[in-house]
Amino acid sequence: MAPTQTAPVPLSPEEIEAMKGQVRALAKERGAVILAHNYQVPEVQDVADYVGDSLGLSRKAAAAEGDVIAFCGVHFMAETASILCPQKTVLIPDLDAGCSLAASIDAEQLADWRATYPKGVVVMYVNTTAEVKALTDYCCTSANAVDVVRHIYETHGEDTEILFGPDMWLGAYVEKELGRRMHVWDGECHVHAGIRPTDIEATRAAHPGADFLIHPECGCTTSVMEYVSSGDISAEGVHMLSTGGMLKYAEEIEGRAEARPGERREAVVATEVGMLYPLEMAAPDVDFIPANAEASCQYMKMITLPKLRDALRDLKFEVRVPPEIAERARVPIDRMVAIG
Ligand code: 13P
Ligand code: SF4
Repeated sequence: MAPTQTAPVPLSPEEIEAMKGQVRALAKERGAVILAHNYQVPEVQDVADYVGDSLGLSRKAAAAEGDVIAFCGVHFMAETASILCPQKTVLIPDLDAGCSLAASIDAEQLADWRATYPKGVVVMYVNTTAEVKALTDYCCTSANAVDVVRHIYETHGEDTEILFGPDMWLGAYVEKELGRRMHVWDGECHVHAGIRPTDIEATRAAHPGADFLIHPECGCTTSVMEYVSSGDISAEGVHMLSTGGMLKYAEEIEGRAEARPGERREAVVATEVGMLYPLEMAAPDVDFIPANAEASCQYMKMITLPKLRDALRDLKFEVRVPPEIAERARVPIDRMVAIG
């Protein structure tokens, strides 16, 4: 379900600049590190100490210096930071910044699913609550899902039963990559599921030479993999990537553009539209085209510069995971981070 908050009043460019200064000054005063996800609004990304994907943000949270982490992302991400740094104060500027994917499975549902397959190894995307992680064997993100599942087959045996969730599109992608079936939960993110095969067909027709950067949570993932296997789209130009992987692609392609001045490239981006800002910053010589310009996550956009300023000023809203849950939830996260 999409959230129903009213849109914030837009700030003028001068107000934004002034508020960026206030935010940086407050962060210094509080000894706070500002972490922001790639889908955050540009002005929030601009004031962050680190901008990245969910895996990169978990790593930065674990290594963060200082007493306070101001997390500009959604609630499960702030929870993950709190699980990894229980001694730090983790703040989220808006407690309502949830996630439809994380809401698609709760601890009771996972416990029931586990009971149906008692020998199964549970792999859950980090887009889950702390309670769900506490019942999970391995976490993964879109950046490492294939590696995590491959690792399980290698270490637990080739015939291991895997329960993968909650994202069915990411699950289908992992199955296709490894050529193995898993038990896959039927959850999805409303934003990525809304990027449909028809969006890809329309952008392909309008931009025939473009590369495709596709987040594996997208509803078009399976059909694009089918186009690639049938030879309908050249595999060379199709990249299934986490948001961090998309950024790496942009940096690499920009490096090549510098070597060949004047050459412009096009890349169709199938993910939440906030991603366009960091991509454009990283590769000004590439035209990034959204596969679906309406694919905006209203949860991510609940985090605004004024709310971040208030969070740092008033030390609110603290996200703290109960220690007994945090202790169990840390196990699958640590296993994931150790795999890569
Ligand atoms: P990544 O940043 O890990 O690719 O995840 C995308 C996402 O949907 C986060 O909400
Ligand atoms: Fe959750 Fe989807 Fe928003 Fe990411 S884009 S936070 S998966 S609802």
